Amino acid sequence: SILIIDFGSQVTQLIARRVREVGVYCEIHPFQSAAAAFERMKPKGVILSGGPASVTEPGSPRAPEAVFEAGVPILAICYGQQTLATQLGGTVEGGHPAEFGRADVEIKQASPLFEGVWEVGGRYPVWMSHGDRVTRLPPGFEVVGTSENAPFAIAVDETRHFYTTMFHPEVVHTPDGGKLLKNFVQKIAGVEPDWTMAGYRREMIGKIRAQVGSGKVICGLSGGVDSAVAAVLIHEAIGEQLTCVFVDHGLMRAGEADEVVGLFRNHYNIPLVHVDASELFLGELAGVSDPEAKRKTIGRLFIDVFEAEAKKIGGAQFLAQGTLYPDVIESVSFSGGPSVTIKSHHNVGGLPARMNMQLVEPLRELFKDEVRALGRELGLPEAFVGRHPFPGPGLAIRIPGEVTRDKLDTLRQADTIYLDEIRKAGLYDKIWQAFAVLLPVRTVGVMGDGRTYDAVCALRAVTSVDGMTADFFPFDMNFLGRAATRIINEVKGINRVVYDVTSKPPGTIEWE
Ligand code: XMP
Repeated sequence: SILIIDFGSQVTQLIARRVREVGVYCEIHPFQSAAAAFERMKPKGVILSGGPASVTEPGSPRAPEAVFEAGVPILAICYGQQTLATQLGGTVEGGHPAEFGRADVEIKQASPLFEGVWEVGGRYPVWMSHGDRVTRLPPGFEVVGTSENAPFAIAVDETRHFYTTMFHPEVVHTPDGGKLLKNFVQKIAGVEPDWTMAGYRREMIGKIRAQVGSGKVICGLSGGVDSAVAAVLIHEAIGEQLTCVFVDHGLMRAGEADEVVGLFRNHYNIPLVHVDASELFLGELAGVSDPEAKRKTIGRLFIDVFEAEAKKIGGAQFLAQGTLYPDVIESVSFSGGPSVTIKSHHNVGGLPARMNMQLVEPLRELFKDEVRALGRELGLPEAFVGRHPFPGPGLAIRIPGEVTRDKLDTLRQADTIYLDEIRKAGLYDKIWQAFAVLLPVRTVGVMGDGRTYDAVCALRAVTSVDGMTADFFPFDMNFLGRAATRIINEVKGINRVVYDVTSKPPGTIEWE
């Protein structure tokens, strides 16, 4: 196995993901408890993550000395490089505030770290973290790669198998980074690729049983893949100790509620309470048009309804959620710096203390494509597993401005037609997410001989690996024309269709 020692970087989970991608089991442990984890795991390799601190500050994090003395290969990234250099007798100078940026590394000497990937003399793009930098290497190290601002971009001690990079190989902006991590894990640390989703399933089932014991768990189903996979996994772990609650907020797509209820009750035989709370949600949403206010209202009501159901069921100490890793990082603040909330995700963390329940979040380390793989592993139907993501606040955040029943009906019709055309064109699986948005803007049109004055519908489709960045989907114009014509002809209240060509960043995928 591989031990990843976390110094608090926002992207530490990406290291774990890259390691899992090459079929190797790994665990992330914070630096404070890493010594014990190292002792227990006896890993074949250790990766030191980046982090927001400066090694020049008193009391800043360090790696346990034992990892340097055990003869185990080490890959030290960014802050990891700096603490390794400091701990092994090099010098680090404090610098400018930490900042990410693209850079090119120039390879000066061969190393097993980039064997078969980068050649001596070549220049390759990487994602660099500027800030503190190593100014003198510890004994035994030499530089094998440099960049303009980072003379020690890659420094290694081949004898001890210690590899350090100032850049982040784990992020997609370092295009070859995954291959470097693969070299480290498979060639340098020599770990056999034998870890799979079946392994994750077994491991999680064990963890869920250990956490829950003989307790009762309630799981909120959203209608989406994530909560469904979480529920099926938990059910496999603890059986009838789990009850699922599906809070139908009336903001689902056409036919979605029935599909979920059918799947759970008939296919899996998992106890399910279906609460139709659409009156309550739509009532409270009346007059609310600010995006954050809508999200907060929905989040609050969801918890209220949930709490009431939990009381009825009685005796549950645990609440299960299908929280994924991208939800976690987009919702937490950057440690040590000022933080910005982009969106309040209603499915994360909003659990009031009065509920006095502990969270069970078996997907917290996974990305969407991994959740799908786990869903297949658990035997969920392909049509369900392959479904595009759907946000917790539902169609409410696809109706800028106030949400009403009429607008929801209109949007559902347009969305159904759009997705139908996408499926017919064979494009559904090529797209991460596609949906219609109903704009609070009316424009003038002409139909037959008459004037129309109706709403604008925006169509959105993006490709993405993990929802954190996205590109708009380059539809053929004929496709867009077909979808637009059908929507305008078949949906009363829409007389104009536009296509959104914004990528993320700077846009987000949803409009609110
Ligand atoms: P954005 O719009 O932030 O969305 O680019 C990234 C991905 O997250 C989904 N999303 C949510 N999912 N609860 C969820 O479960 C939410 O509150 C929420 N907001 C956005 C969005 O659909 C996209 O896949």
